[in-house]
Amino acid sequence: MRDEVSVLFTEEQIARRVAELGGEITSAFAGHRLSVLGLMKGSLVFMADLIRRIPLDLTVHLVRVTTQREQAAGRVLTEIAFSTPPSLEGKDVLLVDDIVDTGITLSYLLAHIHEHGPASLRVCALVDKPESRKIDVHPDWTAFPVHEPMADRFLVGYGLDWMERFRGLPFIGTIPRPRRAEGPPAVS
Ligand code: IMP
Ligand code: MG
Repeated sequence: MRDEVSVLFTEEQIARRVAELGGEITSAFAGHRLSVLGLMKGSLVFMADLIRRIPLDLTVHLVRVTTQREQAAGRVLTEIAFSTPPSLEGKDVLLVDDIVDTGITLSYLLAHIHEHGPASLRVCALVDKPESRKIDVHPDWTAFPVHEPMADRFLVGYGLDWMERFRGLPFIGTIPRPRRAEGPPAVS
């Protein structure tokens, strides 16, 4: 399985970056309680490592988001299923996302979480592909920005999947962008 994947960010690079981000987030929320909201399933591994680098009084919650993409007559249709998060009213919320690509998923989520009236809402993403953006949305923290031409590659590992495969790889790697016919009908 591993020989299908070219390593882009090693286990060591990821550990270093997660420790740095943990330090920055800890300083930003110093003296506050933090509600960490992880997006299933892609951010599970990242979140598990990140919270161990944030020595604050924090709670962990998960939301499940399913993004369905369909190319029809040149239009991309996106369908997002969203499980209701716990009460976030008055909380300082850190949303942990796996990849911000078009930004459609993240902007949808931010709008819905805002409806719950959090005191503050910040976003930490594992990967940001800023050149792929269709909606202007920016994570507050990003572990790894990925630019063209790499942004065109499909990333897997460290929680990221292609059709549910590769999530357990300890590094982040790329596979050639899956062809339409065999491309993932759903990404999560
Ligand atoms: P967006 O709504 O286009 O920003 O898509 C975000 C979601 O698409 C992420 O949460 C991932 O689940 C998925 N995604 C986008 N690019 C990749 C990739 O390269 N590898 C794995 N999942 C991806
Ligand atoms: Mg996702």
